[in-house]
Amino acid sequence: MSSLVLILVISLSALSFTNAAGDPALFIFGDSIIDIGTNNGLDTTFKANIPPYGIDFPDSVATGRFSNGFSAADFLAQKLGLERSPPPYLAIANHSAYLNRQMVSGLNFASGGAGLLDDTGYGNAVTIKEQIQQFQMIKANLTALLGEAGAERLLNKSIIFINAGSIDMALDYFSFKSPPTTEFSTSLRDALEDHVKTLYSFGARKFGIAGVSAIGCCPAMRAGNDTGECSADLNDYPQSFYSAIVPMLQNLSSELTGMKYSLGNVYHMMMNYLNNPSPSGPTELRRACCRGGKLNAELQCNEKALVCKNRDKYLFWDAFHPSQAAAAIAVETLYNGTTEFVTPINLKQLIEEY
Ligand SMILES: *[C@@H]1O[C@H](CO)[C@@H](O)[C@H](O)[C@H]1NC(C)=O
Ligand SMILES: *[C@@H]1O[C@H](CO)[C@@H](O)[C@H](O)[C@H]1NC(C)=O
Ligand SMILES: *[C@@H]1O[C@H](CO)[C@@H](O)[C@H](O)[C@H]1NC(C)=O
Ligand SMILES: *[C@@H]1O[C@H](CO)[C@@H](O)[C@H](O)[C@H]1NC(C)=O
Ligand SMILES: *[C@@H]1O[C@H](CO)[C@@H](O)[C@H](O)[C@H]1NC(C)=O
Ligand SMILES: *[C@@H]1O[C@H](CO)[C@@H](O)[C@H](O)[C@H]1NC(C)=O
Repeated sequence: MSSLVLILVISLSALSFTNAAGDPALFIFGDSIIDIGTNNGLDTTFKANIPPYGIDFPDSVATGRFSNGFSAADFLAQKLGLERSPPPYLAIANHSAYLNRQMVSGLNFASGGAGLLDDTGYGNAVTIKEQIQQFQMIKANLTALLGEAGAERLLNKSIIFINAGSIDMALDYFSFKSPPTTEFSTSLRDALEDHVKTLYSFGARKFGIAGVSAIGCCPAMRAGNDTGECSADLNDYPQSFYSAIVPMLQNLSSELTGMKYSLGNVYHMMMNYLNNPSPSGPTELRRACCRGGKLNAELQCNEKALVCKNRDKYLFWDAFHPSQAAAAIAVETLYNGTTEFVTPINLKQLIEEY
């Protein structure tokens, strides 16, 4: 009798290790576009845990998302049947019961200011390399919890999402104020390749990778131009990076057994939207919603800043970060876009494969 109860308890707790519909877990790596609170606990001024950040989040909480509401991490999680992004690893690292329950459906390691290169961690960010070390520890925890085969099975199906590179590019650009060199694009490509290989060695198989957006078109960069145009030199970086990673990922997927990926050309997505904005989506493409000064891009977004009213009509929330409305469109395209925007398959197909 008591062993029957034990079996029931074990199988019930095993059930709770998968998401509601048996959806794969989601592990997120990257920078401020998808940081949902990692930086709150760091010694840095690069945080978004004060109003008006979060003004459109449930209960208007400033969670640390660099957005007026949900971020791309949340919309992505919703595609996997979650309510919003899995929590920031650092926020729950010391709560072992919670961490044990949570890690089977995913964690968010992203930290605002993180770059692809090992020495790119603007303002004390957790670098991508360190984020992957944290994931390595979680792999050990998963193995302790589920056994080796169980952990492998879980990671086999998990979606690993990586959004990084813009910080490396911005720092390089501001050092030289010129288009990227071939060596620089190669070093970013090699860094991404190393990260993917390391994650693969820990059992990750399915990678959702976002290229870098048209960072020369963010309000902060437009404000530096007399007529508010995009910075063409800065925009060369994401294009050159994207061209470098397409063949790298193709090669990697034939080299590494079972490795699958979906690469989003977010540069092209952004330029395409700027040229053909949807009347029902954001139509203010240049000005930031929060801040002040030229294009609302010159003053800090903080309690004293003016905030626009029709926030869903703004492509940018602050001088650097997309609005909730823009993030939703971006994820929709990554998830269900055609090969014009996502290659070789979209996230939906990536999720559905085995
Ligand atoms: C966890 O707790 C230890 C001991 O109090 C502390 O040193 C460490 O910084 C904490 N880690 C996190 C991520 O909060
Ligand atoms: C995860 O593993 C680390 C290192 O082995 C350990 O210190 C920590 O307590 C584990 N956490 C949980 C939630 O099991
Ligand atoms: C503004 O941007 C346009 C288009 O890239 C460029 O031709 C022009 O030289 C820029 N002006 C300044 C002052 O940078
Ligand atoms: C991809 O593989 C081809 C054929 O082996 C090779 O010529 C090319 O240099 C590789 N490219 C990258 C970026 O690894
Ligand atoms: C993980 O997936 C690979 C195929 O990529 C398969 O060979 C392996 O058996 C799977 N492992 C588990 C535990 O499901
Ligand atoms: C997904 O994309 C296809 C092809 O572009 C389109 O027909 C379909 O309506 C889209 N589905 C959703 C849910 O947006």
